Amino acid sequence: MSSFTLDGHDVPFTEGQSVLQAALAAGHPIPHLCAHPEFKAHGSCRVCTVKVNGRMVASCTLPAAAGLAVESETQELKELRQGLVQLLFVEGNHFCPSCEKSGECKLQAVGYALDVRTPHFPQLFPDRPVDASHPDLILDFNRCILCELCVRASAEVDGRHAFALSGRGLTKHLIVNAESGLLKDTSVAVTDTAVTVCPVGVILKKGKGFAVPIGQRTYDKAAFGFEGKKP
Ligand code: FES
Repeated sequence: MSSFTLDGHDVPFTEGQSVLQAALAAGHPIPHLCAHPEFKAHGSCRVCTVKVNGRMVASCTLPAAAGLAVESETQELKELRQGLVQLLFVEGNHFCPSCEKSGECKLQAVGYALDVRTPHFPQLFPDRPVDASHPDLILDFNRCILCELCVRASAEVDGRHAFALSGRGLTKHLIVNAESGLLKDTSVAVTDTAVTVCPVGVILKKGKGFAVPIGQRTYDKAAFGFEGKKP
């Protein structure tokens, strides 16, 4: 099997794997947000950035190749990732202690993994009303990190195109595909992949919040990158 090195460790890979996929499979967690094993790499959050031959590159879009010398666990990369995560926290409204997804949220877990303890940048406090119009779902735009996983899942898996991103830069935001702008007027169904794929707490099923007690949730038990593994 071919391999590359990651921080000096040998990482085997199969043809077609990205550096991120191979690293995760070999038990070397590289922080990431917009990547998902069931979707094509998106390369938008840049949290998975690594350094290869002196060049910063997103590991989720970088094809694994024999002989690559990849750096990930360096202070430089940690600070870069911290900055990206801090920006995500100030761009939205993230009230982790009261969020139903606390302990199951990838942004929160990556934040802890990167020692992000302060916002660092000025908080923007955007005005993003919650859409509770749907009988079975709540859409809390305050927590969106623009990973587009719901957009991709709704289009590619569910075949509904219920979600989209609109705007550019700081005005970029999640919208729903309905003239009214309300989730109830889209074709989204509670069983859709788009509903379950959200890595944060944007799309929630009504009546299901806090089903797993705090302290027993995925990232309460294991740090990011070690989910599902015995402590
Ligand atoms: Fe690679 Fe988001 S996980 S850019």
